[in-house]
Amino acid sequence: MKRICRLFFLFQCLLDGGVWSLRNLSISVPRAVLSGEGQSALLRCSYDLEGAALYSIRWYRAEDEFYRYVPREMPPSMVFPLPGASVDLAQSDHQQVRIVNMNRRLSGDYQCEVSADAPLFHTDIRSAPLTVVDPPFRAPRLQISRLIYERNDVLHANCSVDEAYPAPNITWTIDGHKIAETISWQTSEQDFKERSAFSQLEITILETDHYKLEHTYSQDSPSYYKNHFSRNIETDSTKHEVLRFTMTPPPSGQFAISCVATIYDIYARSSDLVHVKEDSPRPASVTGEDSSGFKTLCDVVLTFVCACASLAHTTL
Ligand SMILES: *[C@@H]1O[C@H](CO)[C@@H](O)[C@H](O)[C@H]1NC(C)=O
Ligand SMILES: *[C@@H]1O[C@H](CO)[C@@H](O)[C@H](O)[C@H]1NC(C)=O
Ligand SMILES: *[C@@H]1O[C@H](CO)[C@@H](O)[C@H](O)[C@H]1NC(C)=O
Repeated sequence: MKRICRLFFLFQCLLDGGVWSLRNLSISVPRAVLSGEGQSALLRCSYDLEGAALYSIRWYRAEDEFYRYVPREMPPSMVFPLPGASVDLAQSDHQQVRIVNMNRRLSGDYQCEVSADAPLFHTDIRSAPLTVVDPPFRAPRLQISRLIYERNDVLHANCSVDEAYPAPNITWTIDGHKIAETISWQTSEQDFKERSAFSQLEITILETDHYKLEHTYSQDSPSYYKNHFSRNIETDSTKHEVLRFTMTPPPSGQFAISCVATIYDIYARSSDLVHVKEDSPRPASVTGEDSSGFKTLCDVVLTFVCACASLAHTTL
């Protein structure tokens, strides 16, 4: 009995004291990779065996083991079929595994399990998600109800993105500043279906006098744009909420809108920039600034009159 106790005590010491134990196991997996030929994902696992020998390292996708490294065996690497991808043996070892040519059905949780050698075979496991991305084929398409506006108008803008896996998020920008975003709806169960994305934005142009405008507008200050940042979580793929943004236009009366489709940090593509301008810029203010718009208008009228006159002249 005493001997058993002593053995047990020794065993406890070994575990607690960190002899032959396994510490600091951590997994490093890219959050997202592109699918297809020539693309790959490097999964790494780091650990500290504190002097003990490595018995094995095993990699799983969900429940399925796809790679095993056992230093005592010859060869030490063993690969199990991973439908829709393959393991690059030359770049896989006791610390990492490289998977090449993945398809989106291999999205999911990846796990790394490390076992120390005898006598304790201390084992630990870590998991991290990876999404294999099929990006949209084309750039997002932006449609705007009108390109010329007047004060107090409401502009309607639509952004549509082709099918992709997973469905992209859509970000709206005005003069390069992010003003609103639609977060794509994600199914909780993984069906690996490609989905399109759509976002609707309503921009209300405020009537503001020049004095206030100069105080609120600054090209360099993102705070000018942040007043109506909104977020839209889609509950049903057919029903879309409308994002709303209210702004005082810049002194030039002109600004540019675009939408950007993003998938994690590996895909971002912008629509064309659409320039919108004010119909008839305000006449010169009391202080005499911004008279250019007024002058241009006069020039246009003058040219028109001249053209009419010359036309009348030639027909006579
Ligand atoms: C390993 O973990 C210990 C605590 O368990 C910590 O003090 C040490 O800094 C870690 N080492 C590394 C390399 O992360
Ligand atoms: C935006 O999409 C909505 C819903 O499909 C449609 O009713 C509206 O006409 C579209 N607006 C523009 C500017 O294309
Ligand atoms: C969309 O944005 C949300 C919130 O920032 C983020 O959690 C999610 O991962 C993004 N989805 C994609 C596909 O990038």
